[in-house]
Parts: sequence; C-alpha cells; structure tokens
Amino acid sequence: MHAEPKVKPSGAALIDPAKEAMLLAALYIAQEQRGYLTPEVIDRVAARLGLTAGQVFSTASFYTLFRTKPVGRYVIQVCSGVSCYLVDGAEKVSDYIGAKLGIRPGETTADGRFTLETVQCLASCGTAPALRVNDQLYENLTPAGIDAILDRLLGEV
Ligand code: FES
Repeated sequence: MHAEPKVKPSGAALIDPAKEAMLLAALYIAQEQRGYLTPEVIDRVAARLGLTAGQVFSTASFYTLFRTKPVGRYVIQVCSGVSCYLVDGAEKVSDYIGAKLGIRPGETTADGRFTLETVQCLASCGTAPALRVNDQLYENLTPAGIDAILDRLLGEV
C-alpha cells in the first residue's frame, strides 16, 4: 500500500498509531471492494474501530490513495512534483493525457473509464516523469509511452 499524504489537517484529533494502522488497512480494503469510501463505509469503519466518523473521514481525506467520491475504472495520477516538472513532465503530461481523453485534472470521462488527477511526488523522482494508473507506476514517460499505456487500457474490456 502506497499512500501520499495530502495537506495535513489542522486540529484533527490524534489517533493511536496502532489503531491508525488498522484504520488505513480497513479503508484500503473497503475502497478495493466499493471503489470509493462512501459515507456508509466511513460510518461502518468508525464503528468497528471505535472512532468517530470525523476521525475516519479526516484520515481518508488526508491520503491521496483514498477516495471519498466516485472515480473512473482507471485513475490516472500524473505527478506534478518538481523532478517531473524539470524533465518536461507534470503539466505537459497532464495536458497530453487530458487532450487525448477530453478531460481535465479532477474530471472523469463520460463513459466512466478514466479519471485524471495530478498529485505530488510519486516517489519515482530518479525516473521522472512518472504517473500511476490505479496501483501501477509508470516511469520515464514519453508521448509514445503514454500512448501505449492509454491504448492498452482502452483495449481492455
Ligand atoms: S517529483 Fe515526480 S516522482 Fe518525484
């Protein structure tokens, strides 16, 4: 499981580290089953772990790995970090993919297949530019490489 933190919530109640580890695992499994973390899932996980729904939602919204809204079958996360930016990645990659799919970051294609996002460092700076599709990391991106990724995904049933 690889989770990058989003902006750290201020004033969020601290959760015991052992319980937070269980929470992360529970959220990961729930998301794998449901596609995203619905309010009902948040409530259920909170009840099982003895936490408040606010604590669970705070954690879920803190990590880019977790989603609290529906997304496409393939979530394309383009790294917008400095290393990727410096090798002509980041915005150029995001713009390239967005033009091919007809969406902008934060949007999902009308057929529900692709969601495009930009995220901070994917921990692949030495092989930038990088992107991730669901749990699969792609590095050393080129336009031809991106085309190959999209063609393969478009060909999947
Ligand atoms: S800045 Fe893109 S992988 Fe680190």
